[in-house]
Amino acid sequence: HANGLKAGKSRNFIEKMDESGKNCIVFYGSQTGTAEDYASRLAKEGAARFGLKTMVADLEDYDFENLDQYPEDKIVFFVLATYGEGEPTDNAVEFYEFVSNEDVTFSNGAAAEEKPLSNLNFVAFGLGNNTYEHYNSMVRNLNTFFERLGGNRIGEAGEGDDGAGTMEEDFLAWKEPMWTALAAHMNLEEREAVYEPVFDVVDMPNMDAEEDTVYLGEPNKYHLEGVQKGPHNAHNPYIAPIAESKELFSADDRNCLHMEIDVAGSGISYTTGDHIAIWPTNAGKEVERLLRVLGLEPKRHSVIKVSGLDPTAKVPFPSPTTYDAVVRYHMEICAPVSRQMVSTLAAFSPTDEIKAEMTKMGEDKDYFHAKVADLNVNLAQLLEILSNGAPWDKVPFSLMIEGLHKIQPRYYSISSSSVVQPGKIAITAIVESIERPGAPHIVKGVTTNYLLALKQKQHGDPNPDPHGLKYALTGPRNKYDGVHVPVHVRHSNFKLPSDPKKPIIMVGPGTGVAPFRAFVQERAAQAEKGEEVGRTILFYGCRRRQEDFLYEKEWETHKETLGDKFHCHVAFSREGPNKVYVQHKVQEYADEINTLLEQKAYFYVCGDAASMAREVNALLIKIIAEKRGVSEAKAEEIVKSMRASNQYQEDVWS
Ligand code: 2AM
Repeated sequence: HANGLKAGKSRNFIEKMDESGKNCIVFYGSQTGTAEDYASRLAKEGAARFGLKTMVADLEDYDFENLDQYPEDKIVFFVLATYGEGEPTDNAVEFYEFVSNEDVTFSNGAAAEEKPLSNLNFVAFGLGNNTYEHYNSMVRNLNTFFERLGGNRIGEAGEGDDGAGTMEEDFLAWKEPMWTALAAHMNLEEREAVYEPVFDVVDMPNMDAEEDTVYLGEPNKYHLEGVQKGPHNAHNPYIAPIAESKELFSADDRNCLHMEIDVAGSGISYTTGDHIAIWPTNAGKEVERLLRVLGLEPKRHSVIKVSGLDPTAKVPFPSPTTYDAVVRYHMEICAPVSRQMVSTLAAFSPTDEIKAEMTKMGEDKDYFHAKVADLNVNLAQLLEILSNGAPWDKVPFSLMIEGLHKIQPRYYSISSSSVVQPGKIAITAIVESIERPGAPHIVKGVTTNYLLALKQKQHGDPNPDPHGLKYALTGPRNKYDGVHVPVHVRHSNFKLPSDPKKPIIMVGPGTGVAPFRAFVQERAAQAEKGEEVGRTILFYGCRRRQEDFLYEKEWETHKETLGDKFHCHVAFSREGPNKVYVQHKVQEYADEINTLLEQKAYFYVCGDAASMAREVNALLIKIIAEKRGVSEAKAEEIVKSMRASNQYQEDVWS
């Protein structure tokens, strides 16, 4: 098991359900936490409204050979995110491999034609992004597999679309008819939903926060004990020293950071093109705001013990801990507020007037959008505005644990070559603050502003604690010296051709250039060692040469090493009267690109998925059609097969 911290637990979910008297299990396949969050919301709602005995479960924690033994009078939910190019999330890989197998066999050995899952009743919801080609393929495929195996789906298979920005509304619209169908199927009676806490939060007046069994931000027991023990992964980060940090540019509304993170001796290895996960810490200002509005400020550093009121409820952070540590390190407190959260919180409003307003926002979608979603306020900001700063001290802390996501590591494309610097990982990140008209608060990127604070700390910025990082910077109780950041590496398929003689074409405007800095760095090093290197062509875009041209000097140095092999074509979007984008440059060099592609050059795109990467894809189709004299349909097929054979690779984000 990848996660050495969970060894020894039973992987039989039917047994687990029996032991705890459950009749409904909600499995999630989640990468960034949204699917996990929806899973727990469904479980809670099923319990509160229909009296189901629910439990939430990570797909990674169980085996599925016994799906055919699942009792007919119980129900299984699958909440499955589709990741990247139609792939399962990391925690769903094994499950997906198992059920997608043509010859899948279950515990009684029945073949697929014998419909081994004919007793299985299931509900399915998928989370996807329609800007990717394989939209919601996880839930669609699951549905196909289960149908083939005789499973009985209750309600429609829901699909949420992050690309259109309608995920939450898609989910809300899907679940009502699903509940109706499920209630009919299982003979459930709906009752007035009463809030029942999932977690027990107990004050520990006899414990001191300085005691060494109290978690003050450490992600797990290794860290609490002060040992850095591998393997480092999504459950167990490495607290890495920051070797170097600087600003590549700094403009009015944004600046760009370059950081070198020291992973030497950690056991962490990477290859060029991989991603590094940064585990962020919330800004002190927002931590304080939430504690204040909940009336928890006076006891923020008191020790609490948190446990599940039900044995299947997993506490999403280690305990004993403090309110401050939970809010600072473990909760996604700056994310947009969900309409369901508003509905649930209404009952705990400080006044009847506020309760009426909360209820209205919870029920009326348009009103909610105008009053909350469009303003981009986080939860504490919303509560503070509504109550004029008066504390919401009736809100159970359990509700915060249930309703707010677990804070997630953020992934960045590594901008260094593992051949050149195996023990040091570079990242290139834009720090942006978005201000919206009419909105009361500036929305700041949690992680990039955290990184900026680390950089300021490293350089002895006069404001000593701009982000409220007192523990994260040095580790709790000063276990780590200097400036540190918790990280792990995720391997990707975005890779240079193994043969350096192969030509490559790279398209990466803005920080999309990050992995290409690594690619060119690697090729320059190979050339220096006397290896023959193929043509290396980069299309880069930024606003203005003087403002945000990343790594300008480095490209010049590489040009000296690589000579004619290397070309960097730059599109400056705000220098002339008209926008010039990388697409214009690609069009300008269409002849050469087509010729190189015919010689099997690799084509890479990195950056914004929704517009840039889509437009480059469309442009390439057009170029191929034109230059090869084939139809657009044929050219589209050619591009598709380039993708399938990895000749065309993308590292994109939305
Ligand atoms: P703009 O902000 O001036 O519109 C890096 O962010 C660069 O990418 C900027 O020069 C930005 O230009 C440009 N950019 C914005 N949208 C783009 C798109 N759809 N395709 C390509 N480049 C784009």
